[in-house]
Amino acid sequence: MRAFPVRRRCSGSATVALVLSLACGDGGAPAGSTTTSEDSSGTATSSSTTSPGGDAESTGAGDEPSSGSSGDPPSTEPTPEQWERLLALRYDDGPVPPDVTNAWADDPAAAALGQALFFDPRFSGPLIDGDNDGSPGTLGTDGEPHKVACVSCHVPEDGFVDTRSPHQQISLAAGWVLRRTPSLLDVGFATLLGWGGRRDTMHGLLFGVVENTRELNSSRLYFAQQLARNHRAAYEAVFGPMPDFDDPLQFPALAPEEAGCLALDAPAAACNGRPGDEGPYDALAPVAQDEVTRAVVNAGKAIGAYLRQLRCGASPFDAWLDGDETALTDLEKRGAIVFVSSGDCDGCHAGPRLTDLQFHNVGLIPQTVAVVFVDLDDYGASDDLAAVMTDPLNVTSIYSDGDDGRLPRKVTAEHVGAFKTPSLRCIADHPAFMHTGHFATLQDVVKFFRRGGDPGGYPGVSELSPLSLDDEDVDALVAFLQSLQGPGPAPPLLQPPR
Ligand code: HEC
Ligand code: HEC
Repeated sequence: MRAFPVRRRCSGSATVALVLSLACGDGGAPAGSTTTSEDSSGTATSSSTTSPGGDAESTGAGDEPSSGSSGDPPSTEPTPEQWERLLALRYDDGPVPPDVTNAWADDPAAAALGQALFFDPRFSGPLIDGDNDGSPGTLGTDGEPHKVACVSCHVPEDGFVDTRSPHQQISLAAGWVLRRTPSLLDVGFATLLGWGGRRDTMHGLLFGVVENTRELNSSRLYFAQQLARNHRAAYEAVFGPMPDFDDPLQFPALAPEEAGCLALDAPAAACNGRPGDEGPYDALAPVAQDEVTRAVVNAGKAIGAYLRQLRCGASPFDAWLDGDETALTDLEKRGAIVFVSSGDCDGCHAGPRLTDLQFHNVGLIPQTVAVVFVDLDDYGASDDLAAVMTDPLNVTSIYSDGDDGRLPRKVTAEHVGAFKTPSLRCIADHPAFMHTGHFATLQDVVKFFRRGGDPGGYPGVSELSPLSLDDEDVDALVAFLQSLQGPGPAPPLLQPPR
């Protein structure tokens, strides 16, 4: 199974010089995409590399500060209408909504099991990208199994984003995953998961991670076997008796080195332990196949119970909304006002998490990340929603404990090149932004929105247009975004359970 549409990787390893990435990015740019820079960075070719800390604004028109604002001193007192829009952003301190797909969503024993699984690398098959050379930031060397866990990319002490991989843009696990790893704080509010909504339940998502060659490069059969070997008691205490997955007479034992696929993006028949493998899994009787799948589904529900507990929490901004005038600086207050007025950010970044959880095309031209990758062909929600709607593990399947109608009825033209609006809470310390990970600072992101996105060079049609914001408005918005830091999860949730 491929998690992504057509992907393009320029040849060469991540260690090759920048020169390659420039050549590579330019060569791949479709006609009409902007490849010259308007800011005088001194280079002729400028379309591509954004190094962490560097200025990502190499494309796009109209980054000039607009002269639209009046001469009045900027206000730090919201009008009644602005105040109403701001109050709609108040953090929701209450529990996350019920998850009808998961009968164990609020079961503490299931959550503890899920937490243990989240930290356990022993489910993963071999690393298969040569960039895994044992150097800092990699998880081991090519061919080694048992190196990848959820925490390898969702680093708990850093807000569950990836601060580990080389370049800190996209993640290197078994292979390079070509979208940036999102945070998991407050993920219990989402029903469609992933940047494009490829998954609609936590248990479905687990299959996407386990059987993704670039992530765990493993399989459901190997996962079930490792579950039996390492977590049987905890599993059975929650879900009842587990079949004898570790009995080789009933379930062919997979060696860790052959738990997944032998090459990146290999066809199913070149993989082991999953549907279509024409091998150990396909050879199982349907009842045994269902037992294997069911065990992984249950593990996914346990993980879901754990993830629901991960919250950003109320921030200084919320204290201000609650009446504490001293909670924010004047600059932060001004930013909050811009957010709901001239910035019109709350059109999409709406509600308590500052996301409408919908998919939007904001006109983002992918740039080269991690030195050699540029993904010019990511259709986002249109591909991902079409895939989840026909996924045999989706919310309408027998593996879900309920269906609240979360799947869209159809994919529309607006889904082309559209990505899920991310929450803006607890993001200030992230090393990279957007699904591509090519903006390194909030300043870069806000300037991107000020110029109304960039013209052409990505699938679909952008919804954005340029904004009348001066440089101080930009600084104020950045300050405001930084005031959305909550306390994060309690420390016991940031380590394996004891
Ligand atoms: C190789 C890095 C990597 C690993 C390992 C990984 N993830 Fe992720 N995770 C990602 C990326 C990248 C996405 C976004 C995928 C997409 O949009 O296509 C994601 C998305 C998610 C989401 C959806 C978040 C949202 O807001 O929509 C959840 C939940 C999640 N991962 C949980 C897990 C769990 C549980 C594990 C372990 C079983 C795991 N991840 C392992 C990189 C990783
Ligand atoms: C049309 C809907 C829309 C509007 C309006 C909008 N955003 Fe966004 N925003 C998005 C989407 C969608 C993404 C993710 C895009 C992607 O990764 O391809 C995003 C990403 C971001 C990010 C990066 C978050 C991260 O974790 O990567 C920040 C910061 C942000 N927006 C701030 C703002 C601000 C500030 C404004 C107002 C000036 C604004 N947005 C207006 C939809 C919108």
